[in-house]
Amino acid sequence: MKPLLRHSAALLGIAVIATAAFGHGDVAPQPVNTDALPEVGEEWLIENPYRADKVGDETWAKAVEIGSSGFNQNCARCHGLGAVSGGLAPDLRFLEAAEYGDEWYVERFQHGYTQDGTTKMPAFGEVLGQKAGWAIRTYIETRPEDGALDSHAARLTEIRDTLAKGGADEAALKAELEAIAAEVKTASGAPVADSAARQAALHLNGTPEGEKHAADALTVGLSAAH
Ligand code: HEC
Repeated sequence: MKPLLRHSAALLGIAVIATAAFGHGDVAPQPVNTDALPEVGEEWLIENPYRADKVGDETWAKAVEIGSSGFNQNCARCHGLGAVSGGLAPDLRFLEAAEYGDEWYVERFQHGYTQDGTTKMPAFGEVLGQKAGWAIRTYIETRPEDGALDSHAARLTEIRDTLAKGGADEAALKAELEAIAAEVKTASGAPVADSAARQAALHLNGTPEGEKHAADALTVGLSAAH
């Protein structure tokens, strides 16, 4: 065997082992960078420590952002993009944003779920850690309820088009987006929903890039609603 071939055969062997280790459609867990979030200690908590009433709006918003990427990389393939379940696994948006829902959440996050020797959900506690677990929890509980933006879709489309064109009265649009965002409810009972209107308002910072990002956030939110 030529050295090059032997080398690729060895690589192939590694690939086969890796596939076997993460068989049954399992995928290696994706690490979540939680450096920006406050420490929560070693012992597992039973209540979300990253709610705005405990850590303030800024840290809460950071937890939503970090949780969004953590969720979409590790959980979405079973629980659905944006936590909107496609029926493969339970819809997590309805888990109560209170101690009862948290306890249930963290038990599943830590230990996963095995039935008759088959892993239905892998355990994430050891691999992702507690901070990532609660950031993902924060993201899940701030998902808007189904159809939350439906009654605003026409106006949001206009706003999106205005922003995409550029030169809009940004301050007025930002205030309008914030007012729409404030009406959106969560299915979990958490007080603030992380809707596309909220994200768009956050992007508006007086720069053309901000307007572009805001328009993109609305496009994504409006297409997800259909
Ligand atoms: C391989 C698929 C899979 C992945 C990946 C997965 N889950 Fe699950 N999850 C399931 C299934 C299936 C159940 C239902 C288990 C049962 O019957 O109780 C479940 C249940 C849950 C529950 C309990 C929900 C309820 O209403 O009872 C929570 C909470 C949960 N998962 C969170 C997560 C989080 C957070 C992640 C990512 C870090 C994740 N899951 C990744 C398949 C998965």
